[in-house]
Amino acid sequence: MAFLTKLKEIEKLIESRLNSVSSPKEFEELESEYFNRKGKFSLLMKELKDLPPDLRPEAGEKANILKRKLNGLFQEKALSFREKKVAGGLVDFSLPGHRSWEGKLHPLTQVLEGIVEIFCGMGFEVVGGPDIETNYYNFDALNFPRDHPARDMQDTFYLGRDLVLRTHTSPVQVRVFEKRKPPVKILAPGRVYRHEAINSRSYCLFYQVEGFYVDENVTFADLKGILITFAREFFGKEIELRFRASFFPFTEPSAEVDIRCIICKGKGCGLCKHRGWLEILGAGMIDPAVFEAVGYDPERYSGYAFGMGVDRIALLKYGIDDIRLFYENDIRFLRQF
Ligand code: PHE
Repeated sequence: MAFLTKLKEIEKLIESRLNSVSSPKEFEELESEYFNRKGKFSLLMKELKDLPPDLRPEAGEKANILKRKLNGLFQEKALSFREKKVAGGLVDFSLPGHRSWEGKLHPLTQVLEGIVEIFCGMGFEVVGGPDIETNYYNFDALNFPRDHPARDMQDTFYLGRDLVLRTHTSPVQVRVFEKRKPPVKILAPGRVYRHEAINSRSYCLFYQVEGFYVDENVTFADLKGILITFAREFFGKEIELRFRASFFPFTEPSAEVDIRCIICKGKGCGLCKHRGWLEILGAGMIDPAVFEAVGYDPERYSGYAFGMGVDRIALLKYGIDDIRLFYENDIRFLRQF
């Protein structure tokens, strides 16, 4: 029988056999019957080399086409068995599944990002600074007198004679002023550290967002404007703000800013300790002494700065009464945000 006829016959035969296969076992048997080293199809292929040379190219091509076709059909069939295996009882879909963990941003990160987004919308540029600072950046250049109580071991973690864990984000002001000329409008979020007793209100580390703007003719009214705009966007239109006179070595005048207690709306409650107000930040006009330390002309430039406590703001936003929860990372707590 001519080779091409045999090819046609074996094609029909294999196709019809494959169609009637109904179990994986039968399938495997059929596969080896034809495609093993001594299988019927393999043997037929071996006949190719005995054909007269002028017939070989056409026969070879047809044989290859068929081989590829059968390959495809067998793969398809194999796949259909695998699917049936899953659907056919090996997998019990009524069993409880394994729940995969859903990753989320930490609540402090969420609040921090919310704050940053609002200020970026008002033209601030984000800059970072090191957590480990020298006395110069953390204190001296910010006009802290040598004997200022904030330098006391109680508040500052010293890492050596001259290195400290920064106690606030204000040193970033100095670092930026040294490198750039006004106008500068910067936001510097980051971690700060204080050697304080740990309790529900304070922790040995927390987050601040520092903001500052230096240019010609920057006024306290600009500072008020930016902070009121921020508070309304973050807490809602109805939020009330209060500026209280205060003191920081690196600002003059200085203020602390409170918001109306968001729990009791000013009537007095545990959260605001019956004061009706909650402090969220310190701020002021940058002291000329700071400008002199970095070589800015205090006659020409003025600027404001503020530093807000991110943890504080997060406590207020979510109505949480213990700051330690943010650092213990109990998954039952974190999952709620
Ligand atoms: N650095 C001050 C603090 O940590 C806050 C502050 C920042 C005050 C900027 C005034 C201006 O308490």
